Amino acid sequence: MLSEKMEKALNKQINAELYSAYLYLSMASYFESVDLEGCANWMKAQTQEEMIHAMKIYDFVIERGGRVLLDAIEAPKQEWDSALAVFEHAYEHEKYVTSLINDLMNLAIEEKDHATQIFLQWFVSEQVEEEASASGVVQKLKLAGGPDGKGGGLFMVDRELGQRPLPVPMPQE
Ligand code: FEO
Repeated sequence: MLSEKMEKALNKQINAELYSAYLYLSMASYFESVDLEGCANWMKAQTQEEMIHAMKIYDFVIERGGRVLLDAIEAPKQEWDSALAVFEHAYEHEKYVTSLINDLMNLAIEEKDHATQIFLQWFVSEQVEEEASASGVVQKLKLAGGPDGKGGGLFMVDRELGQRPLPVPMPQE
């Protein structure tokens, strides 16, 4: 059984993961508007990843006999100045999510909730990957497109980001 405090904190994290999905979908839509289809594909894959994160926590709360209570999701930013600005934002956002996961882990330790600690270990490792993948694209864009990321190599990076497979393939028409 989850403590009330732990249940509330996990519910808050479901909201944060859904917000992340919403933010990345907004980034995908921005990329669509500036014809960077590969970047849009990368963000759509990221959106699905975040939905998977949210559902993992959802299922865990239910499994532990808790109640999932969904709250309003904040509206995400809609416009950016460049592809580099978007990925820098994504990287900053992932660092923030890492801090949320660390706070959750600290609470689970405080509450002596061993099952939640084990559950959260997956998220601790996942955040290492999440930060690395966003910061990897930032580096690539800087190398390919110069300091503002707008140089000619941007289109090569865009093509590469278009190769990222969707975690949940979309049905074919
Ligand atoms: Fe769910 Fe990108 O962290």
